[in-house]
Amino acid sequence: MAADSEIHTTGLDSILDRYARDPNALLQVLRKVQELHGYIHPAAISYIGVKLGIPRARVEGVAGFYSFLHLQPHGEYRVLFSDNITDRMQGSQALMEQMCQQLWLQPGKVSEDGLVSIDTTSCTGMCDQGPAMLVNGRAITRLTHQRVQEIGGLIRNRTPLADWPADYFRVEDNIRRRGPLLDNTIAPGDVLRTVMESGKDIIETVKSSGLRGRGGAGFPTGMKWEACRNAPGSEHYVVCNADEGEPGTFKDRVLLTSYADLVFEGMTLCALAIGAQHGFLYLRGEYRYLLEPLQAVLQRRRDNKLLGNNILGQTGFGFDIVIHLGAGAYICGEESALIESLEGKRGVPRNRPPFPVTHGYLQQPTAVDNVETFCSAALAVQKGAENYRAIGTAKSSGSKLISVSGDCPRPGIYEYPFGVSVCEVLQDCGAANARAVQVSGPSGVCVAESEFDRRLGFEDLPTAGAFMVFDDSRDLFEVARNFVHFFAHESCGFCTPCRVGTALLKSTMDKIAAGLGTQYDLGEIEHLDHVLQTSSHCGLGRTACNPVLHTLKHFRPAYESRLKSLEFEPAFDLDGALARARQMTGRDDAGAHLKPEEA
Ligand SMILES: Cc1cc2nc3c(=O)[nH]c(=O)nc-3n(C[C@H](O)[C@H](O)[C@H](O)COP(=O)(O)O)c2cc1C
Ligand code: SF4
Repeated sequence: MAADSEIHTTGLDSILDRYARDPNALLQVLRKVQELHGYIHPAAISYIGVKLGIPRARVEGVAGFYSFLHLQPHGEYRVLFSDNITDRMQGSQALMEQMCQQLWLQPGKVSEDGLVSIDTTSCTGMCDQGPAMLVNGRAITRLTHQRVQEIGGLIRNRTPLADWPADYFRVEDNIRRRGPLLDNTIAPGDVLRTVMESGKDIIETVKSSGLRGRGGAGFPTGMKWEACRNAPGSEHYVVCNADEGEPGTFKDRVLLTSYADLVFEGMTLCALAIGAQHGFLYLRGEYRYLLEPLQAVLQRRRDNKLLGNNILGQTGFGFDIVIHLGAGAYICGEESALIESLEGKRGVPRNRPPFPVTHGYLQQPTAVDNVETFCSAALAVQKGAENYRAIGTAKSSGSKLISVSGDCPRPGIYEYPFGVSVCEVLQDCGAANARAVQVSGPSGVCVAESEFDRRLGFEDLPTAGAFMVFDDSRDLFEVARNFVHFFAHESCGFCTPCRVGTALLKSTMDKIAAGLGTQYDLGEIEHLDHVLQTSSHCGLGRTACNPVLHTLKHFRPAYESRLKSLEFEPAFDLDGALARARQMTGRDDAGAHLKPEEA
């Protein structure tokens, strides 16, 4: 019988060869090894280290960083329930309990026969059709008690995933409102052809269109591309950030599903503008099911001379795109962490500056943009800067895709010109009795009813796209607690303020939930926020207290009703009692006999 180590290194050479034994491909190699063997055995770690010529510790460090990679067996079927607040509102916790009972399992443990494990994972980006789960990385939507029961049966019978009903894996776009982007009639290659034929200056056009990044920070896209083009380097790179990990956001999923050509057109346009030959699409692991369809679109574009050498016959313009799969780490959405991950490392944010535009992938100039930004750039160039700028508001030109979820009958994707009010979105999605909306996910803003006239846009409420609705039956304390758990789970652990601070915040919220918190804890949260704001290395730590501070501002009773009511025994003030006794008697030794209980 072959030794354990021999079994777990079988097939590794062909995986390594497929990635040209490139250490930058370490994460992709590890993903493939896990697909082959179910988990990454210590022998495989050593083997990969030797073959890639990198320290074993680096391989193990990377394998241990990503939550979808496992160093120990996790069962033939690995079930992960999406644990966003919207999944919970749709009953995910009860469904998970049901499945655990059905399969005689405790969450987080592998069944004794090695068949199955059940656990939770951060938001899987299916909030409009939840509750959702991943089974061996495949997304399953619209869970009900019946569906969970059926899935339990399929697992027990060891039915291969390929034989499960296709409907389980159906992911709908749920586009509810279209605007210039979703209504576009741009055919593959149209924008590139327009630019090549007209000699239009791409960067100038994008700059004067006023387009700002759609990934959250809102940096002017044209300026970014210009800085990248002007930065010296042996190679320039284009990176599409399709990590979409912010809970409640799923608009990039829809663009990648139904507008992939426009995404790639925007990336190719960027390549032409900055002089890049290589591009990456960093696809979050939760969207693994999109890999083959996206690869098919890329191949079609190659066949149609929209990728590869001499694109559309333009001599010297060559560009191609590789898809890189993430492995369950929200922090990899942060652009410098994403680049680390692309280089086959742990997704730890870099020190900035220098910024990716000068020192990005392999320390070369790199333009990292969100999926929607690339689509919007293509649209802006096709429409012309003036026409694009005419949409939206002065500081927020164009339109924005909003991912609506939570308490409303019509969750899904809505496209609006910037400047739309919260109230209008609520009306369109049919939300009745809304008491709060979480705009832009946990790191964003909690907007209460009194503020529903506020507007989405860089002037007022900037947003990466999430719009989670909570009606008057919801407990906003529990919403904030879920978000705080998310941050503690997703902190990469690199810097102490965030690693310790998010854990402290989580335990403080749990303490309050258990009825053991006091006013002191609320004060401590404000103190913690100051520490995290001023000393965190990246945006995750800096925004981690937002959900609590915002809900405290608007829904303080939800916190105070949970606080421990302390019946304070006034502390005995011995000095004060002595002073009073001396004053009354005029004697220096007055009150010398006093004991606290006699005061
Ligand atoms: C913790 C964290 C997570 C992020 N996640 C994403 C993400 O999932 N997708 C995204 O486009 N940008 C994300 N960003 C923003 C990126 O760092 C970066 O600003 C963006 O990709 C730039 O693209 P844009 O200019 O097109 O917006 C994240 C930032 C932080 C701090
Ligand atoms: S702030 Fe948090 S997520 Fe960001 S680098 Fe520090 S530990 Fe990592």
